[in-house]
Amino acid sequence: MAMDRARRHPMSAAARSSAFLTLWSAVVVALAPTVSAAGFSCRGGARAVVFNFGDSNSDTGGMAAAMGWRIRPPEGRAFFHHPTGRFCDGRLTIDFLFVCIFGISYLYDLYMSSLVDIVVGLLLILCPWMTKMHPGESLNISYLSPYLKALGSDYSNGANFAIAGSATLPRDVLFSLHIQVQQFLFFRDRSLELISQGLPGPVDAEGFRNALYMIDIGQNDVNALLSYLSYDQVVARFPPILAEIKDAIQTLYDNGSRNFWVHGTGALGCLPQKLSIPRKNDSDLDSNGCLKTYNRAAVAFNTALGSLCDQLSVQMKDATIVYTDLFPLKYDLIANRTKYGFDKPLMTCCGYGGPPYNYNITISCQSKNASVCDDGSKFVSWDGVHLTEAANAIVAKGILSSDYSRPKIKFDQFCKV
Ligand SMILES: *[C@@H]1O[C@H](CO)[C@@H](O)[C@H](O)[C@H]1NC(C)=O
Ligand SMILES: *[C@@H]1O[C@H](CO)[C@@H](O)[C@H](O)[C@H]1NC(C)=O
Ligand SMILES: *[C@@H]1O[C@H](CO)[C@@H](O)[C@H](O)[C@H]1NC(C)=O
Ligand SMILES: *[C@@H]1O[C@H](CO)[C@@H](O)[C@H](O)[C@H]1NC(C)=O
Ligand SMILES: *[C@@H]1O[C@H](CO)[C@@H](O)[C@H](O)[C@H]1NC(C)=O
Ligand SMILES: *[C@@H]1O[C@H](CO)[C@@H](O)[C@H](O)[C@H]1NC(C)=O
Repeated sequence: MAMDRARRHPMSAAARSSAFLTLWSAVVVALAPTVSAAGFSCRGGARAVVFNFGDSNSDTGGMAAAMGWRIRPPEGRAFFHHPTGRFCDGRLTIDFLFVCIFGISYLYDLYMSSLVDIVVGLLLILCPWMTKMHPGESLNISYLSPYLKALGSDYSNGANFAIAGSATLPRDVLFSLHIQVQQFLFFRDRSLELISQGLPGPVDAEGFRNALYMIDIGQNDVNALLSYLSYDQVVARFPPILAEIKDAIQTLYDNGSRNFWVHGTGALGCLPQKLSIPRKNDSDLDSNGCLKTYNRAAVAFNTALGSLCDQLSVQMKDATIVYTDLFPLKYDLIANRTKYGFDKPLMTCCGYGGPPYNYNITISCQSKNASVCDDGSKFVSWDGVHLTEAANAIVAKGILSSDYSRPKIKFDQFCKV
């Protein structure tokens, strides 16, 4: 589509050469032996398209748009310098992943399509490194637009259906995974309808077929169960949650989706929100000060989710289903805090109450009485539930290493035509 191509090359010649210089210096830096060679890419000519489903971990502004919430500073202060509807001081993990996927496919398309694959190999090295720069600005690409955000959105590279607070169950309440998938099907049908009328639709049939479908959900389901059930009872309630995730993947597959990337849940027992719940004694705390029961439940959930992905991979032979376990990545932030320069890994940057957790459920980060730290990069937790941008950058780097993924495919296979 001509319109799409025009939109993909919005840069001036000067901007292009400056982006290329940035890229080239990045390649030189990236060749340092400490940087691992893994990441995401698309081959030239194939426009990368992503659809994401999930909760606040990957909500880039959907809930704020849906509810008309005026999210206040200090949200967004570390990167966007204004609130964006993300529950974070800056970028979410998905923002870093998105920039890698599009930054590289975009650059490849602009400059590299005539060069050999070895150059693409070099570009792949950049992904982890790119988490340190601001490529969204220098490459003039936007982040994944929330489906419900009416103004300023650009859906030509996909849409984000993730909404804060979402769970898999109950399945028919706003904005469960099932409803997010229904919204996607509506989006797809409407986009194809526009194209069939000769009008510009954001994504065409090929775009939907080759798109990457990401799912990161389950944290709210597991947390809700842990609030009133024992560990064994919680684990016994996993099957219906997993059945919802299976149903979502099956529905997308039946409608032509072929590339799936499923993310497991995080270290729930290290969240200040959970740690601040009054307890009788500290016998449930591990050596890093996290709640063992919550973390055991998170690990059990991820094991079951990983098995589901393996099972679906066998059934859906022509699909690629990658499962990435986020638990070790997020637990590592706490366990190896000094390596990453985190001073207070179990305390919120933005909250109320002071040490040890600075979290009070009635006085959130958005409350006028909340206190906020000076330097978010020394904190893992932004508000008690969500990570800081500094922590998200490290998690994204770990995800892109593919060390925590199964199968450990080269990510460029996601968007090969
Ligand atoms: C960035 O893209 C927008 C539209 O997508 C365009 O109006 C603007 O001029 C671009 N900026 C640069 C520096 O190329
Ligand atoms: C899309 O999936 C739904 C639910 O599985 C199914 O009813 C519908 O027929 C599918 N549409 C296409 C075009 O395959
Ligand atoms: C700590 O509390 C748990 C129940 O929450 C109890 O089973 C255990 O015996 C207590 N340990 C001590 C040392 O009091
Ligand atoms: C801490 O970092 C080391 C070195 O990178 C790694 O081997 C270890 O697994 C990490 N510990 C945890 C608990 O993630
Ligand atoms: C939260 O803060 C309020 C107001 O200071 C206080 O009354 C309440 O006890 C706090 N809650 C917890 C769990 O500390
Ligand atoms: C919030 O701060 C105001 C003054 O700034 C004070 O009057 C009020 O009691 C505080 N609320 C809580 C819950 O601490």
